Amino acid sequence: MQKTRVSVAMRERLLRSARKVMKNAYAPFSNFRVGASILTSEGQVFAGCNVENSSYGMTNCAERTAIFSAIAKLGPQVEIYAVAVANDHGVPCSPCGACRQVIYEFGPRAMIFYQGKKGPKQSRIADLLPEGFRLK
Ligand code: THU
Repeated sequence: MQKTRVSVAMRERLLRSARKVMKNAYAPFSNFRVGASILTSEGQVFAGCNVENSSYGMTNCAERTAIFSAIAKLGPQVEIYAVAVANDHGVPCSPCGACRQVIYEFGPRAMIFYQGKKGPKQSRIADLLPEGFRLK
């Protein structure tokens, strides 16, 4: 399997896109706005923000919004090459467990850029989600 490599310019583009879309978040309950952008293996970029709900469990994270938007546009063969996540509090924020599984489904080799406890971090999804589930 080929290793995923993302240039500094592309990483910055993804983070910029994540910060921009974060402003569209619907987060009246947590007041925590998140933006995510994904890079497909074909070089396209898609962005998404978190969308909360009065019924809290219906909340959709930014990462999943971006992924679902890519699939709605391109179809189910989308391969996620990289993901960038930003939040409006500038605090550590890596994809939640549910989003890790969704990223893994479409990008088992994906690289994730996010804010860690000691600053910007990058990790492969397989390291964030060891033994990710696959049906086939
Ligand atoms: N959230 C995301 O959108 N992505 C993450 O990586 C972590 C959490 C959202 C969900 C909810 O709307 C808010 O942040 C607080 O949990």
